[in-house]
Amino acid sequence: MNIFGNKFRIAIYGESHGSGVGIVIDGVPAGINLDVKEFMEDISRRKAGKQDTTSRIEEDIPKLLSGIYNGFTTGAPINIFFENKNINSKDYTQFKSHPRPGHSDYAANIKYDGYNDIRGGGHFSGRLTLGIVAAGVIAKKIILRKMMKIEINSKVIQVGESNEADSYGGVVEAKIKGLPAGIGEPFFDSIESQFAHIIFAIPGIKGIEFGAGFEGCINLNGSEFNDLILDKNGRTLTNNNAGINGGISNGNEIYFRVAVKPTASIEKIQKTYNFETNKMESLEIKGRHDKAFIWRVPVIIEAAIAIVLANFIM
Ligand SMILES: Cc1cc2nc3c(=O)[nH]c(=O)nc-3n(C[C@H](O)[C@H](O)[C@H](O)COP(=O)(O)O)c2cc1C
Repeated sequence: MNIFGNKFRIAIYGESHGSGVGIVIDGVPAGINLDVKEFMEDISRRKAGKQDTTSRIEEDIPKLLSGIYNGFTTGAPINIFFENKNINSKDYTQFKSHPRPGHSDYAANIKYDGYNDIRGGGHFSGRLTLGIVAAGVIAKKIILRKMMKIEINSKVIQVGESNEADSYGGVVEAKIKGLPAGIGEPFFDSIESQFAHIIFAIPGIKGIEFGAGFEGCINLNGSEFNDLILDKNGRTLTNNNAGINGGISNGNEIYFRVAVKPTASIEKIQKTYNFETNKMESLEIKGRHDKAFIWRVPVIIEAAIAIVLANFIM
């Protein structure tokens, strides 16, 4: 479904080339001051226009349709809408019969019996993450109200090779400092499960590893992997467990890395199955695409973290 969370609950909607995209946020306490300007810094970090991103630049001005009155949240659901203005859909019709390898075209066509909106990737588009970023701005305000010192940061730490007419991906790292010990649940709502749940909802994410990660699990013995506790605040000597034990924060820094795939829509000619001729044929992908959407991902991950933490602490 399109809903995440229970106390700070988000419902995502829209299509890349429809009238717009947005998010409905339920559970936001009344009395938080909020205006359009506060969204713009995070929105501009997600915007295209930087290194190897699409030439489709949208205004991305949030329309606060409900839940805010006289500059304060009212406690009612908040609906934030972003209009799509810069659309060119003519290059997408071929993807019904010639699905793009690595994209959602084929799987969506099967699931929705061909009724899915294919233009610009429709509801599967990375454009839907704009709503997540907007919800993140509100979640960050809620966190700040409850615990002043939490710092959430995310950045690109590694990228693949950049080739002419082809795309590349890489790895984004996220760090959370200042989260007190004792947050999270042992099983289905463990901190790792909740982060993984929302982060895998970001289109194009292919992996997540916490702390010492896969390599640490292979290369370290227990005596090396264990994080020795140094003081009564639970500070540890190493942090291979990424500040989480038993699904619950232990007060040390939480950190994880996210694998972002190379963009599926590439300029380079590829082969795909043509469902009209029932043959494998050449596919030329036109339209405007991010050569590497990884550059737009860090702020989305920060928003996802804030949404999970808001859910935990409310
Ligand atoms: C901010 C952002 C921008 C994206 N831009 C593109 C793009 O321009 N072209 C493309 O093919 N995929 C793009 N993607 C990735 C696709 O949305 C994603 O690969 C597709 O929906 C299929 O989902 P999956 O890769 O998780 O299987 C973008 C993702 C994000 C988060």
